[in-house]
Amino acid sequence: MSRSKVAQEILALREEIREHDRAYYRDAHPTISDQEYDGLIVRLRELEDLHPDLITEDSPTQRVGGDPLEEFRSVPHSVPMLSLDNTYNAEEMRAFDQRVRRGLDLPEDAPPIEYAVEPKIDGVAVALRYQGGRLALGATRGNGVEGDDITLNVRTIRGLPLVLPKGAPSELEVRGEVYMPLAGFLQLNEAMERQGLKQYVNPRNTAAGTLKLLDSSTVAARPLAIAVYTLVNADQYNLETQLDMFRFLGDLGFPTQGAELCRGADEVMEAIETWGDRHPGLGFDVDGLVVKVNHFNLYDELGATSKFPRWAISYKFPAEEKSTKLLDIVLQVGRTGAVTPTAILEPVFVSGTTVSRATLHNADEVERLDARIGDTVVVKKAGEIIPKVERVLLNERPAGAKPFRYPKDCPSCRAELVREDVLIRCINLACPAQLERSVMHFASRGAMDIEGLGEKLVLQLVREGLVKDVSDLYKLTVEKLGDLERMGEKSAANLVMGIESSKQQDLARLVYALGIRHVGSQGAKVVARHYQTMEALMGADESELEALDEVGPVIAASIHEFFNRKANRDLVARLQTAGVNMESLETPSEEEPLLAGEIIVVTGTLEKHSRNEIKALIEKFGGKVTGSVSKKTTFLIAGSEPGSKYDKAQTLKIPVLSEAEFLRRLGQ
Ligand code: IVH
Repeated sequence: MSRSKVAQEILALREEIREHDRAYYRDAHPTISDQEYDGLIVRLRELEDLHPDLITEDSPTQRVGGDPLEEFRSVPHSVPMLSLDNTYNAEEMRAFDQRVRRGLDLPEDAPPIEYAVEPKIDGVAVALRYQGGRLALGATRGNGVEGDDITLNVRTIRGLPLVLPKGAPSELEVRGEVYMPLAGFLQLNEAMERQGLKQYVNPRNTAAGTLKLLDSSTVAARPLAIAVYTLVNADQYNLETQLDMFRFLGDLGFPTQGAELCRGADEVMEAIETWGDRHPGLGFDVDGLVVKVNHFNLYDELGATSKFPRWAISYKFPAEEKSTKLLDIVLQVGRTGAVTPTAILEPVFVSGTTVSRATLHNADEVERLDARIGDTVVVKKAGEIIPKVERVLLNERPAGAKPFRYPKDCPSCRAELVREDVLIRCINLACPAQLERSVMHFASRGAMDIEGLGEKLVLQLVREGLVKDVSDLYKLTVEKLGDLERMGEKSAANLVMGIESSKQQDLARLVYALGIRHVGSQGAKVVARHYQTMEALMGADESELEALDEVGPVIAASIHEFFNRKANRDLVARLQTAGVNMESLETPSEEEPLLAGEIIVVTGTLEKHSRNEIKALIEKFGGKVTGSVSKKTTFLIAGSEPGSKYDKAQTLKIPVLSEAEFLRRLGQ
């Protein structure tokens, strides 16, 4: 493809990606699937790797960069980041309006004050400084006077402009709220569950925790979003009101939630009432509304206390809470053996849905709550979606209610349970509950996609002993299935057909279906595409795996360990004998250069080539040459007397190739 064609496609892709970012983050109305979105990013990265000179700072691929930090640098705020005083009812809101009017010395009969009313997003406040039209600094609120420099992390937030459009003021500072949309939060927790890891409690804490991660590439993988609500010194940009400011910020490409104009306390209360109905459908947590005097020229006169401005206040929504009976605490054994306690509740209607089960997360949470069967508990929706047992009403505790004790053995197989940190785990590989979950995962849509093999049927198959591991699925026949309760001949035939056709699935799906810990569908895709066959993947070297794009040390170690176990290798062999496809159907496309996505460092004195020749060769094959070794480096080519880069590669466990090895890899 010619350079200008590539350039054209790159521009079109970037625009398309930005549009999807807006649809997802600003409008909460994605129009494509996550996979399709990732596909666009992958394609863009491929093209940019072909012509690294076409990479611009504002490309969606450039949101992450650099090594993990040791710690955050502390930075002073340009003007203090204040907080807001709270109100909880109409009376307090009217009192606020009165204070504003008195503060401005207005006579009783003066017209009502104009207020801008906007959602109070439950996230984390950040300050963002732009210099020369580029995002130069992102900082946390900290103590209000100084915060942490989290620039690398905020850069990863899709939807936040890295570069402002032409004509934007060259210096400006905005402030806003970083949050995690509920859909993203739920997906993240599903992924945690699939990997047998502890789930996050709510979107706000997860967003806060994410912004404090030192490795920006982990932050990039988390679905953070932002809404901007303050322009520092807005009056200096010829803006007179909050509403003008939102228009201005919107034009600069900042995601905002905007504001509604209300005249006087009565209209504010009307707006609050309308909002009260609307907030559960927004797609992110809103814990109240912020009411700000609309005209900036009144701010100086109103002033501020040391903590709050006197021209703004928040109105906090009451989180709906309901009490109900705790009927039982049941334990569920997941695919990886994690045993999760779930509260079974007398059904109760909370924040829009009927709740009859609520997760109790883990052993610590059960202990903290001291919830006992028969107790009356207070339930609320954490993040307005996930039902949560908030607390126990101790004065309603029935006499004789006993503290809940985790059983010593697995509720499914009776093997002894093991406590790992806050997780309780059944480590019996033959545990039927784990087997049931594994088979369900194997058959699921994203994995082998076996139509007709749902939860009920899996339970039957496992209980009847027809399936002892996933390879047994391929031994099922219409006759054998016919013996099962409520199984008609037609559905049996359909199921056998569904199982049969799953044999043709791509290697990537099979790898994912095996349920290797930490290996999601994307990770499976990456390794399948790289190794092409199950055999090659099974023999893969851990450091080689780790060097792959999107495969970190945790995934690499997990894959390695999985295939090191004889039981797992035997299972793969049985699947192969059954006729399951063991090859990638996605050959690395011919156009894809051999070193696409590889970030290579060259050091020391080479024998055959000069340093520049080797660099040209790397670029010709689509690789990228960088000057220093970092975690992102795929491998180091070392000649004689390699020096400190070699040492760094060793510490970071980055593969080192000799010149000859490298040339062999290129088939030269
Ligand atoms: S204005 C001096 N507007 O709420 C003005 N804050 O309780 C201070 N917040 O620290 C901020 N949405 O983290 C403002 N639309 C909004 C907001 C908002 C959420 C957060 C922010 C602030 C906290 C104050």
